[in-house]
Amino acid sequence: MASLDDALARIDHNLDGALKRLFGLLEIRSISADPAYKAECARAAQWLVDELNGLGFDASVRPTAGHSMVVAHARAQRADAPHVLFYGHYDVQPADPLELWETDPFAPRMVDAPEGRRIVARGAADDKGQLMTFVEACRAFMETGGLPCHVTLLFEGEEECGSPSLPAFLAANKADLSADLAMLCDTNMWNRKTPMITTMLRGLALEEVVIRAASRDLHSGLFGGAARNPIHVLAKIVADLHDVNGAITLPGFYDGVPELPQEVAAQWRALDFDEAQFLGDVGLSQPAGERGRSILELIWARPTCDVNGIVGGYTGAGSKTVLPAQASAKFSFRMVGAQDPEAVLASFRAFVEARLPPDCEAEFIRHGASPALTLPFASEPLSRARRALADEWGVEPVLGGSGGSIPIVGEIKRDLGMDALMVGFGLDDDRIHSPNEKYELSSFHKGTRSWARILAALAG
Ligand code: BES
Ligand code: MN
Repeated sequence: MASLDDALARIDHNLDGALKRLFGLLEIRSISADPAYKAECARAAQWLVDELNGLGFDASVRPTAGHSMVVAHARAQRADAPHVLFYGHYDVQPADPLELWETDPFAPRMVDAPEGRRIVARGAADDKGQLMTFVEACRAFMETGGLPCHVTLLFEGEEECGSPSLPAFLAANKADLSADLAMLCDTNMWNRKTPMITTMLRGLALEEVVIRAASRDLHSGLFGGAARNPIHVLAKIVADLHDVNGAITLPGFYDGVPELPQEVAAQWRALDFDEAQFLGDVGLSQPAGERGRSILELIWARPTCDVNGIVGGYTGAGSKTVLPAQASAKFSFRMVGAQDPEAVLASFRAFVEARLPPDCEAEFIRHGASPALTLPFASEPLSRARRALADEWGVEPVLGGSGGSIPIVGEIKRDLGMDALMVGFGLDDDRIHSPNEKYELSSFHKGTRSWARILAALAG
């Protein structure tokens, strides 16, 4: 009979091997958004399948219309053990801007920092390092007698580009993926010493807008003053989206946005959150966004409208006297509570249309929409996970929110009828999606130990 102590000892003993395996995965350039890396995404999926089959899982690559999924199953020692579905993603964000990386983003390395050792590479924290904490916890049990829970693994290769193939895959594989509980390792700790169970995620809607005016680019001297400039039109629309107090001006945008319950507000106030440091760490000093709200409230419980990129006209070296024919921007909306992503996008399109001057037209390109999510606070698996985390870290975990979005959590609930337990070991300064992404060695090591404890606790 495998014991938790044996598994924990195995994890400690195997740490170097675990890092070597993680580095193997980090070397693969599985950038899902860029078609040039399609073969690398396939290589990452195959890498995982080989790894898992070697461990004793029954694992396979499962093709989709986009990048493949990886699905794997392993049975617990005891037939009556609970069954968990663990989800992670093997794809990563593009590494750009490359010149800001200190070394090759796909040549993982260990770095000694004042706070401890860390792993630097694209995907170190989001999400390869995190998903491997769970795989390594399974390995420790499988090498010392067997798993305490039946385990199904689902690894996706399109999370960073909006999971386009996921809903159809879940619908077509319900029986293969159903379990008692879903678990994810794609969120953060409260701070480097305090674990967190994430119970709130913001929703996300992504929409690109192209504004077109003249039938071709024009000479800005010969036509300037007479011809419409679509960059001006777009810039005005962007500027109109927020009022002077930082509130979003789209009609109906705040429908379904709840005020924070007193009780939750009080809990968040009791957390030791240093606003000045949160901003100071990224070179800022003043909160932007809606005035009069705390930063935790702004990032966990309030919606946003952002422009993620804007292009138009001549952006090369030197100057060019041009009046461009088109301008475009990519918008993202983070949503909370019961905000309806479809209603937000409809309001946004109407807002843009209403601001188009004569001779201008707008094209809208949709890149996905998923609602916000709040998980039940009081559930048996959640209290077991709380105790397991407290045992590992020596402090009670924070029950918190996250400003990020993980659309699958909503889809698992809707399509498979399961709640998700979100425990992650990332830190706010991991620079996910940014140059020099890192994952703390302590996150990787104690994260693996945490999953071992959680699996044992769920099995009772
Ligand atoms: N793992 C992140 C989201 C996250 C990070 C949640 C930290 C909580 C704590 C995830 O991979 C991510 O980046 N999601 C995207 C959405 C996706 C559709 C591109 C996001 O939130 O921008
Ligand atoms: Mn992620």
